[in-house]
Amino acid sequence: MTAFPDVKQLLAEDRADGSIYSNSDLYDMEMDRIFMHNWIWVAHRSELPEPGQFITTFVGSHPVIVSRDRQGVVHVMLNRCRHRGATVCEQKHGKAASFVCPYHGWAYGLDGALRGVPHQDGYTGQLDKSKLPLVNLRVEEYNGLIFATFDKSIMSLEDWLGRAKPWIDLFMKQGAYWPIKTMGEHKFTFPGNWKIQLENTTDAYHFPIVHKPYLDSVDKETEDTFSFLDGEGYVEDLGHGHSVMVMIPDLVDLEEDLDRPIPMRFEKLAEDLSKDHTPQEVRRIVRAVGGTGFNLNLFPNLACSMAFFRVLRPLSVNETEIRHIAIGMDGGPAIANQARLRLHEHFQGPMGFGTPDDAEAWDRVQRGSLAGRDIPILLNRGIGHEAKRENGNLYSDVSAETGMRAAYRQWFADMTEENEA
Ligand code: FES
Ligand SMILES: [Fe+2]
Repeated sequence: MTAFPDVKQLLAEDRADGSIYSNSDLYDMEMDRIFMHNWIWVAHRSELPEPGQFITTFVGSHPVIVSRDRQGVVHVMLNRCRHRGATVCEQKHGKAASFVCPYHGWAYGLDGALRGVPHQDGYTGQLDKSKLPLVNLRVEEYNGLIFATFDKSIMSLEDWLGRAKPWIDLFMKQGAYWPIKTMGEHKFTFPGNWKIQLENTTDAYHFPIVHKPYLDSVDKETEDTFSFLDGEGYVEDLGHGHSVMVMIPDLVDLEEDLDRPIPMRFEKLAEDLSKDHTPQEVRRIVRAVGGTGFNLNLFPNLACSMAFFRVLRPLSVNETEIRHIAIGMDGGPAIANQARLRLHEHFQGPMGFGTPDDAEAWDRVQRGSLAGRDIPILLNRGIGHEAKRENGNLYSDVSAETGMRAAYRQWFADMTEENEA
C-alpha cells in the first residue's frame, strides 16, 4: 500500500515545503482529491453553440468529450469506449451526429447512449446496450463557463463559485453589447508543477521585474497603466480557493466611467469605430477591447485573466500544459476583435513580450526548488496587513500573496479531506 505524504507537514499559513512541486506521491493524491472531487472548467459556451457540436478536452488526467445534444443539453463524457477502452473521438472540435469507435465500430449518441454494436448477435443476448453508455460526468454552467466533475455529491457549481460569481459577471462585460466568444488559443507546456502556474496568476509582485520587456515595448501611457504595484489595487480571497487580484481598479467595471478619455493606443480604433457607432457605443466598445483590470483565479484550473482565459492541465508532477484562450465579442465589430487579438498576441503569444518570460521564471522555480532539503517556499508577503471586509473576504495590497494563501487553503482542505476553506 502506498503511504500518502503527510500533507500537514508540508504546508503552513505562510509557507510550503519545497517538495510540493516535485513529490510524485503528492501529485497522485492531487489528481484524485483535487481534480476528481472539485468542479473543473472544461469549456466556454461559445465553443459549442449549436446542437451536434463538440470539443475534446480533459478533466484532470481523464480525456473527455464535451458535446451539445439535439435538445441543446451539454454533456461531458469520458472519451473511452465501453468495449475495450479506445478513445472514441480524437478531433479537437467539430460537429457530429454520433461518435463511432474506430476499433470495432460501437456507436454512441451525442448524449453518450450506446446506439449501435456491429454483429451484436455474437453476444447471444449478453450485451445490454442501455447499460453501456459513455460515462457521463456531472455538468453545470455559470455565465457561459461550463464545468464538470466526477463527484456527484459535492455542492452545486453556483455554491462552489460563491463570492467569485460577481467577478465572473464583471469579466464577461468585455463582450460590450455582445456575448463573449472564444477566438483561438496558444497552447504550450512548461517543465514545472501545475501549482507554480496557479500561484502566478495571483502574483502581481513579479510584474515589473519579469515583465520589464513588456513594459518597455508599450507607449508611456500604457506603461503607466501597467505600473500598478504602488497603486490602489488589492488581492482578495473569495473562498473555495478562488481569488481576485485587482491591478487596475479603474478597469473593474467596464460599463462605468464611459466619459474617461480614450487611451492613446485606442485612438485610431475609436476613429474607425465611429463610422458605424455612436460616440457612446465607441467608448463602451473601446473600453471592452482594453480588457479588465483584474485576474480572477478559479481553483483549480481556470483563470479569467484580464482579457483571456488561462487554463492549466497537469501532465505530470513536473510538466504542465497551459492554454491561453483569446476572447472577443460574438457579433461585435471585426476591427474591435482584431484589436483584441493583436493585444493578446503582444503579451500572451508565443512570440509575445509577456508569456515567454513568465514560462522562464516557472521553469526556474521547478529546478531551483529541488536544491537542498527542508527549505520552505515563502507565501507570507502581505500577511501582516491583511484585513477582512464586511463580507468576510480577506484582502491585502496588490502584491500580497493573499491569493496564493487562498488557493493553498483549499488545496489543504481537499488533500486532508477537511471542510472546505
Ligand atoms: S474498443 Fe471501441 S468498439 Fe471495441
Ligand atoms: Fe506574468
